Amino acid sequence: MDPRKRVLLSGGCGYIGSHTLVELINAGYEVITIDNLSNSDLNSLKGVEKITGKNIIFEKIDTCDITSLRKIFEKYEFDSVIHFAAFKAVGESVEKPLDYYSNNLGSFINILKLMKEFNRPNVIFSSSATVYGNANDLPVTEATPRQPAESPYGNTKTIAEDILRDCCKAYKNLFGIALRYFNPIGAHPSGLIGELPKGVPNNLVPYITQTAAGIRECLSVFGNDYDTPDGSCLRDFIDVVDLAKAHVAALDRMIRKDMKAKYEIFNIGTGRPVSVLELIKTFEKVNDLKLPYKITGRRPGDIPALWADVSLANIELGWTAGRNLSETLQAAWKWEKNLRNI
Ligand code: UD1
Repeated sequence: MDPRKRVLLSGGCGYIGSHTLVELINAGYEVITIDNLSNSDLNSLKGVEKITGKNIIFEKIDTCDITSLRKIFEKYEFDSVIHFAAFKAVGESVEKPLDYYSNNLGSFINILKLMKEFNRPNVIFSSSATVYGNANDLPVTEATPRQPAESPYGNTKTIAEDILRDCCKAYKNLFGIALRYFNPIGAHPSGLIGELPKGVPNNLVPYITQTAAGIRECLSVFGNDYDTPDGSCLRDFIDVVDLAKAHVAALDRMIRKDMKAKYEIFNIGTGRPVSVLELIKTFEKVNDLKLPYKITGRRPGDIPALWADVSLANIELGWTAGRNLSETLQAAWKWEKNLRNI
């Protein structure tokens, strides 16, 4: 196999990682998946194998452990790395900042060190729209200034972007793309892989599906007094399968050597704002059920509205979000039902 068609996927058993694994395989890439399984399990790979009909190459590795990670670089030839492995709970990061800084930055630095040592050129980094903070002008473009992060989690994304920018500038053979994800939701339409948060979900859609499944009693809508059309917050909810395909488009671009600069950034969203209440109503309608919910106070740290200008990704990556909110929320519910044997 041509090393250009081979990719190392760190955190490949997680929510976004497993969906990206499917799309990479569908696009003809050979993928080496690594994960320390700290926030995921091997069932996701079983789901991927069912969907694709392919056996997955998997190694249980912690990317913070450079000795083990070096063995992966010695064992496999690949030109590209997609780095997902990271902690992602905003609230937890406030309580355990050192865990977040050492895990999220340490693992990424190890990846970059080894890419330099082994002369592996292409890296795609999972960044987040959180770097925009509470932006004044909406929608945000990639040129919208980043704001000081509200949480250590958010700060790891900002710092990692800077590390990548500096490394691409300094090291001749290194090329990087940071994808700024908006709000990834949904699941594979097969219902075989999806999001599985540990404990009580913090994010909206897993809370909704768990409430619909009867695991949670009632969904709290955090505020309906924002300065938005219906008073609830506005977000740019991006289907996880579309998001996965954005990684394939970014990787194709790197391999074609089509990049306009050594380090590039793309917003990955739909470009359409959707309110929390609108999302709940759509979920109820397309899945033909009633969701118990109540309006409660605002959640500290929430921003009223954030959505993406996605023209750069549309033009440069030739990528657009193709799935609509109804399909996305049907898939989310299908996954939850599958998981709970409903
Ligand atoms: C958060 C993170 C973001 C991260 C993303 C992952 C911040 C400030 N936010 O985004 O970095 O990338 O998760 O998907 O760093 N809501 C409810 N009830 C709930 C849960 C949520 O009403 O039980 C509302 C929230 O108030 C918010 C919207 O739903 O308005 C979306 O919330 P959530 O899914 O947690 O995502 P974000 O906070 O936008």
